[in-house]
Amino acid sequence: MVMKEKNTSRIIIKNDKTKNDFVKRMIMAKAVLAPLSGITDIPFRLMARRFGCKFAFTEMIDVNGIIYKNKKSFRLLDRIPGDEPLGVQLVGEDIERFVSVAKICEEKGFKLLDINAGCPARKVVTLGKGAALMKDPKKLARIVGRLVKELSIPVTVKIRSGWDENNINYLKVAKAVESEGASAVGFHVRTREQMYKGEVDRSLIFKLKEKINIPVIASGNIFSAEDVKNVFKSTGCDAVFIARGALGRPWIFKEIEEGSREEWVPEFEELKNIIKEHFYLNLEYYDFIHARKRMYKHLTWYLKKYKNLHEIMKEYTNIKDMRSLEKLLKKLRVGEKKKLYL
Ligand SMILES: Cc1cc2nc3c(=O)[nH]c(=O)nc-3n(C[C@H](O)[C@H](O)[C@H](O)COP(=O)(O)O)c2cc1C
Repeated sequence: MVMKEKNTSRIIIKNDKTKNDFVKRMIMAKAVLAPLSGITDIPFRLMARRFGCKFAFTEMIDVNGIIYKNKKSFRLLDRIPGDEPLGVQLVGEDIERFVSVAKICEEKGFKLLDINAGCPARKVVTLGKGAALMKDPKKLARIVGRLVKELSIPVTVKIRSGWDENNINYLKVAKAVESEGASAVGFHVRTREQMYKGEVDRSLIFKLKEKINIPVIASGNIFSAEDVKNVFKSTGCDAVFIARGALGRPWIFKEIEEGSREEWVPEFEELKNIIKEHFYLNLEYYDFIHARKRMYKHLTWYLKKYKNLHEIMKEYTNIKDMRSLEKLLKKLRVGEKKKLYL
């Protein structure tokens, strides 16, 4: 059971100790690396941790992929030393499949399991998964209830504010999952219809905090240490999710820890070293072609402040091995008006 002290937003977690130790660790981390599909793989998580990230999530893993023994899905469950504490996120629609896959996660040593009830992608929601679960709070609550019963690790749920502006039901959904034993709620304050665009109305997080007694992790447009401070202050949330704010800026966790007022901009030579390090981490995990492909988007994020990126990326796609990557990075320079050249 999780209780809130009267007149404060402090959460006191009273429950089976080991179960909630992990929830506590997530809250104590304050800034949590959010699940990001196609992005929060082991190399990216390690980069974030190198800059002080204290709690991270896998990307969403489709329960059907695991049930059908899809190799790619199984790889997403891989864990390595140094990548702890780590929560796993599942996306799905079938309660029995959720249970079977959640048990596999538990056997693999995950200590916290999150249910994705927020993914807005058409291919996901048309199959009744992700944000489609917001439309059926009873079903979502049933899934949570079963998982809480069957697992010894805490179950959390990541929700949105609703399906669209005419169906804002986050309070109902959050209360439903709380009453079934969810240990925390992640709250992306946008509707499914908004996808990732538009302003976020943070007053909804404040309202949610008033109504439920489990921790709330706020999500939506949190891009700097200042944003983190403001979100904590204005909403009383227990932790925040860092999502797009970490793309090309894994050091955002350091800025948050230090409470920096200004963004840290690495010297260009240092940035090149960070890129190299991230690439090498990919190579420990993927073959070169796969690593090059996965690093493509990261490179565009690392270099997004600079101009002429298109030309550089053309060269990047021709690299054949680490030597040619290192050569390319060595040649890479910044000229006037932040224009990149080789
Ligand atoms: C590319 C991308 C992939 C995402 N993948 C997931 C995911 O796998 N699971 C999830 O719960 N949310 C996912 N999200 C949502 C984020 O975790 C976060 O809630 C959202 O981006 C809002 O935060 P932001 O505005 O600070 O980016 C994804 C977002 C983006 C942009």
